[in-house]
Amino acid sequence: MTKVAVLVGSLRRDSLSRKLAHALAAAAPPILTFDFVEIGQLALFNQDFETDGTTPPEYPIFRDRIRSADAVLFVTPEYNRSVPAALKNALDVGSRPYGASVWGGKPAAVVSNSPGALGGFGANHALRQSLVFLDMPVLQQPEAYIGNASKMFAADGVVVDEATRGFLGTIMTAFAAWIERTAPRG
Ligand code: FNR
Repeated sequence: MTKVAVLVGSLRRDSLSRKLAHALAAAAPPILTFDFVEIGQLALFNQDFETDGTTPPEYPIFRDRIRSADAVLFVTPEYNRSVPAALKNALDVGSRPYGASVWGGKPAAVVSNSPGALGGFGANHALRQSLVFLDMPVLQQPEAYIGNASKMFAADGVVVDEATRGFLGTIMTAFAAWIERTAPRG
């Protein structure tokens, strides 16, 4: 089995991104298992934590959860044409201490969404910019900018439109193959 850590870029109770993340997990091939890793509890990163030895207790727990995953799925909304601060903070927390980043080499996929038509394109690519530096091989195709997300779900969280459901399955099948191709051996 392949364990995928799922990071949702929204902290909102009724987050569309979280519903989408669950719909992606439901549409995935059975080889993939999912670990939803929360990010809202992570204190805002401050480099003084490292030099002062005051690392917040939630940091090592978060880092261990990511370390234990084979791959990472990012599902995010767009805030002001970029990545929500909570998600960027999680990337920063996982990238330190210097030389001990938990992200390096882990295959990743980015799925952005928005109630608007552009599907969070700006956030998707802003996130990819960081993932290049973090040395994560990111699934290129299919690109996943999910627009009109507020019309996507029934009350029970199921994706209403069959074609959209099919697309979520296509993304996750491609991601499973990508993990197989790019995950570090050993
Ligand atoms: C937004 N929203 C938004 N939408 C978008 O398509 N492009 C954007 O740049 C922004 N900017 C933005 C900034 C801030 C601070 C907020 C709170 C919201 C709207 C956003 O897509 C919408 O609120 C989504 O529902 C947020 O995702 P979740 O919480 O439903 O997952």
